[in-house]
Amino acid sequence: MKTSKISGFYKLSLEERLEVVGGFANLTASEIATLKNTGGLSNGLADQMIENVIGGFTLPLGITTNFKINGKDYLVPMAIEESSVVAAASNVAKIAREKGGFTASSSEPRMIGQIQLIDVKEFAEAKEKILKNKSEILKLANEQDPVLVKFGGGCQDLEVREINTQKGKMLVVHLIVDCRDAMGANAVNTMVEAIASKIEILSGGKALLRIISNLAVHRLTRAKGIFNKELLGGEKVVEAILKAYAFAAADKYRCATHNKGIMNGITAVTLATGNDTRAIEAGAHAYASLDGKYTSLSHYYKNDEGNLVGEIELPMAVGLIGGATAIHPTAKICIKILGVKKASELSQVIASVGLAQNLAALKALATEGIQRGHMSLHARNIAIMAGAKGEMIEKVAKILVADKKIRVDKAKEILAKLSGE
Ligand code: MEV
Repeated sequence: MKTSKISGFYKLSLEERLEVVGGFANLTASEIATLKNTGGLSNGLADQMIENVIGGFTLPLGITTNFKINGKDYLVPMAIEESSVVAAASNVAKIAREKGGFTASSSEPRMIGQIQLIDVKEFAEAKEKILKNKSEILKLANEQDPVLVKFGGGCQDLEVREINTQKGKMLVVHLIVDCRDAMGANAVNTMVEAIASKIEILSGGKALLRIISNLAVHRLTRAKGIFNKELLGGEKVVEAILKAYAFAAADKYRCATHNKGIMNGITAVTLATGNDTRAIEAGAHAYASLDGKYTSLSHYYKNDEGNLVGEIELPMAVGLIGGATAIHPTAKICIKILGVKKASELSQVIASVGLAQNLAALKALATEGIQRGHMSLHARNIAIMAGAKGEMIEKVAKILVADKKIRVDKAKEILAKLSGE
């Protein structure tokens, strides 16, 4: 039975960690070499992905351990530049395991495609005509993507909304498209562009914008964890975490940072799997203000035993086919490490990591503060900036932390002393 519970993973060398992950995910020797040497993106491939390419940009790829979600163990790859994030998620996942790990679920993977109609004269009539011709419109939309339809997806519904804008009243048509294992932007955008002229004829208006909405309210993922009060540090810590959560729920200034902590986890996994981080972030923050007030994406309460329960719900438009997920070699290996078979499963892993990340931040903030955990890695970065190499990095960093003066000038002084200059 595979387990993601690996004690002391952080103590292993890069080679040793690769061996562990390789064994967990049955990586081939060539996949391991890809991870190790280049980050996987050849110049040729990079040049085909975006314009004006001059090279590649590599972020550290870390593995967060201990995740059990819906009874299955995962090692979760995270691409991120910020220290402490990976370790924090692993710590909370370990606490969650004691109560069985995270449970997660997703709605059907349905995205919204929007058509903005301007210059409409008769709104009620236009709306009625569009709705009357719904099946014909859906058929035309589905003709654009027979493969998606074959796999059980496709355009399933249509809605018409009337909105007031600073440029007058407009009609907005929503196509509801089941995108299955694709993120869906290409499929949805092709469909809305294809049906726009038909909608123009029916409405008597002009179709201006035809584009997917990132506020994917029909493609939601939920994750939940129960966290033993003793493992969190006792009843007082649970109370402090609940008060920290109450602060975020009530105050938008705090809530932005609270949700940022969630996105530390969500964006890092989204990026590692080659998915569109901006789409996920836009959807998350828009969803956080769905009722007109910006609030927390996560929710916490105490259960009857006094243990902490955490829940998260957000739009999660990630895919396993198409886009960078399908072509970026490192993203493909990350998907293999995760062992996810469906986009919904990937979305559940991502949401669970977001929740774990959030709780880790709340726990640290409500107890010792965030800086202690950050400091040793930060000190190492400062030591490197001051010119330390090899063993000297750790030695300089330790003195910086002990002196509580984590500055480049201090690091330079220490380095000179240690080098006998
Ligand atoms: C830092 O990247 C994230 C935190 O600020 C999140 C939070 O405040 O909840 C620690």
